[in-house]
Amino acid sequence: MRDLTGQVVAITGASAGIGAASAKALMAQGAKVALGARRIERLEATVAESGGNAVAVEMDVRDPDGSRRLVDAALATFGGLNALVANAGIGAYGGIMDLTDEKLAEMMDINVAGTVWPIRAAVPHFLEKGDGDIVIVSSVAGIRGAGDEAVYAATKFAQVGLAGGLDRELRDKNIRVATICPGGTSTEFAMGAGRTPGMAGLADMMKPENIADAIVTVLQQPKSMRTLIWSMRSIQEQD
Ligand SMILES: NC(=O)c1ccc[n+]([C@@H]2O[C@H](COP(=O)([O-])OP(=O)(O)OC[C@H]3O[C@@H](n4cnc5c(N)ncnc54)[C@H](OP(=O)(O)O)[C@@H]3O)[C@@H](O)[C@H]2O)c1
Repeated sequence: MRDLTGQVVAITGASAGIGAASAKALMAQGAKVALGARRIERLEATVAESGGNAVAVEMDVRDPDGSRRLVDAALATFGGLNALVANAGIGAYGGIMDLTDEKLAEMMDINVAGTVWPIRAAVPHFLEKGDGDIVIVSSVAGIRGAGDEAVYAATKFAQVGLAGGLDRELRDKNIRVATICPGGTSTEFAMGAGRTPGMAGLADMMKPENIADAIVTVLQQPKSMRTLIWSMRSIQEQD
């Protein structure tokens, strides 16, 4: 396995759930992290506990400049960028006619454009160095579809398609592109549609730390191999 000590990783959606757990898991392996999200106070709380191994950037993934500021912060603070975890995303439950135009547009913008912009910010540095890793957090819904979440599933399929294209475009430049496809994971994201914190179904879900461990493992794999799609679900989850 590759040693991640000193590696610099930018993470979008690092203020909660899978992104926050990934930041902690990566720092536990000796990596340095640049954290991006809108809720800066949450990011700063992580920075305060990081022992100088994290930097926070208030950014919205819908804004290309926000992604460039995240990458710039990694370069300015830690002197480089080795990997990007494009994790920020939102979901909404409901049939195709149940959700508002505004909610669907927001979801498509955050989940699709909000994956493209951070990648476009990071790739020039990876190309310059001839080395880099991109990990996209999609979903099982991005492989199998999902009932009551058709548009969400479409955004997650879009991420898988983006990764497939980028793998072909960037592999021979020593830039790996991996997609992580979790099933139900007990984060704030998993609330809604009648779910409340502490309810039994949530206890059966995977934990954000489980997904963070997968992201760490992908980055630890030797550069002689690459992960394409890693899909995972709780042992209890079915449909
Ligand atoms: N939880 C699940 O069951 C599950 C299953 C499969 C896949 N996923 C995927 O996992 C990823 C992370 O989800 P999670 O479960 O960890 O959810 P979460 O706990 O709700 O965290 C979502 C993160 O995304 C950030 N974010 C949302 N909109 C943003 C924006 N416009 N700009 C910047 N950051 C934004 C949030 O930060 P701010 O609000 O502070 O900006 C937060 O840090 C998502 O892509 C999701 O689709 C989740």
